[in-house]
Amino acid sequence: MPYNHIDFEASGDGIALVTVNRPDKLNALNAALVGELDQAFRRVERDAALRGLILTGAGDKAFIAGADIAELPVGSAVAAHDLALGGLAVLRRLERMGKPSIAAINGYALGGGMELALCCTIRVASGNAKLALPEIKLGLMPGYGGTQRLPRLVGRGRALEILLTGGLIDAAEAQRMGLVTHVVLQTELLDFSRLLLRRILENAPLAVASILETVDAGLSTGLDEGLQFEAAAFGKLAATEDAVEGTRAFLEKRKPIFKGK
Ligand code: COA
Repeated sequence: MPYNHIDFEASGDGIALVTVNRPDKLNALNAALVGELDQAFRRVERDAALRGLILTGAGDKAFIAGADIAELPVGSAVAAHDLALGGLAVLRRLERMGKPSIAAINGYALGGGMELALCCTIRVASGNAKLALPEIKLGLMPGYGGTQRLPRLVGRGRALEILLTGGLIDAAEAQRMGLVTHVVLQTELLDFSRLLLRRILENAPLAVASILETVDAGLSTGLDEGLQFEAAAFGKLAATEDAVEGTRAFLEKRKPIFKGK
């Protein structure tokens, strides 16, 4: 499918590189672009040959500088509510597609851009990255999940400071609070992200999907429900061919060959 605002590149290692490509507007998210991201996430979700996704921004200045402010439906509660619900569904698809994703944050990750990064499995940043939820400075608030996912990731106090000041967080500070797990040179960001994702993809696909689903289920409910979910998922996984292969390979001192079964 042709895209106008994103680039989609699938490589032989099963990784889809999705690049938001509107650098003249710092990759700000307009409605058409969000629609294309939805198509891209659906494609990765459905295509068995694609096993993981890297999300990044074109150029060396911005990952995504937030929603396109020119398109924000301010003044209409109904239209803004619809915009938020539509965006939430797209971001939830990325988060729940059952395949790991890495946000390769190559510059400004603001508002909806930071919220997209929060939906990725892992966040890696270049040294020039700057993250913020600046909606409050516009008299608004996050509408793509920032108030919910950020406290789950960095804790309530830090999240509230970020949400209520709208201030920029540099890469080093983001790493200190666990908002990103690695900071690397901008020239090495994509290679680093790819290597990290490949390390995940060496493992059994059903185990990867099951861990993603179980962590999500636990964070969406409570400890006891999460523990029950984990026990059930562990049971299902133990009956797979890959679990038999993985344990046998260990005992036979060889590398396992996983088939996703
Ligand atoms: N929506 C629409 N356009 C945006 C944008 C956004 N979120 N972020 C940047 N742009 C546009 C600018 O309007 C400018 O367009 P122009 O060249 O046609 O005037 C272009 O991208 C470059 O941005 P500019 O502001 O000139 O770059 P800068 O280096 O001076 O500042 C930022 C960079 C990120 C600090 C600044 O662009 C900014 O604050 N953007 C808005 C961030 C925001 O509030 N996002 C949340 C929205 S809910």
